[in-house]
Amino acid sequence: MSHFDFDPAATAPRQYPLEVAPDTFCIRALTPSVGGTWTNLNSMVIRGAEPVVVDTGMVTHREQWFEDVFSLVPADELRWIFVSHIDTDHAGNLIEALARCPNAAMITSRGESFRVAASLGVPFARMRLVDEGECFAVGDRELTALRPPVYDSPYTRGLFDESTGVYYASDAFCAPIPGAPVDWTDEIDPDLWAEGLARFHHASLCPWVALVDPAKYQAEIDALARRAIGTIVSAHSPVIRGAAVARAFELLARLPAAAVPA
Ligand SMILES: [Fe+2]
Ligand SMILES: [Fe+2]
Repeated sequence: MSHFDFDPAATAPRQYPLEVAPDTFCIRALTPSVGGTWTNLNSMVIRGAEPVVVDTGMVTHREQWFEDVFSLVPADELRWIFVSHIDTDHAGNLIEALARCPNAAMITSRGESFRVAASLGVPFARMRLVDEGECFAVGDRELTALRPPVYDSPYTRGLFDESTGVYYASDAFCAPIPGAPVDWTDEIDPDLWAEGLARFHHASLCPWVALVDPAKYQAEIDALARRAIGTIVSAHSPVIRGAAVARAFELLARLPAAAVPA
């Protein structure tokens, strides 16, 4: 099979939406990664009074992504499409989602909105602008845009739902799945999870973390950890729940001093 025949949606095991809190679902996809591991490519749906999609998946999994999202929310009922940043693995189906969901507006930041208009052609009339730390109401709940401590685009915003304690972390807390696909990180050997998380952050997401001021970095982590987060949905990890949430913050905190895995 040549590189151009590679179809991760056809070759990877199918992971269906996972309910991580009441009416909150992780939309999953998998792609094979180095050393026989799997990498998640996740997004999220909040099925509230005004349904929200959080990130829009990848082009390679378009059919599967729309099937999963529309199994939870009919196209004409979707109201908001929150995009954490417009990397192609997070905004891969944005244009199609806006076309297929006529009552939905995209939520992005003021800074990112110009890139969204210029590079993707989304009209400003379809955008609602929410900046770092701002809350916005979506019917039965308020959501807060909160940048994760680590990211590969400075425009990145995570999303916190205080009503469920679910934090969507965008790329942060990324880690591969060694072996058979799992739903939760607490199904992974703890040492393999720690090693994989450090490797993904140093090799891909934020090699700059080795350069940060440790005290300022720790302050960023502490500010997020003070929120009442019970579940972390990362775009590139099984879901992090319960006691694993505190452990995930510890693993993130030790990144600047961690030996960089080969
Ligand atoms: Fe990214
Ligand atoms: Fe990503």
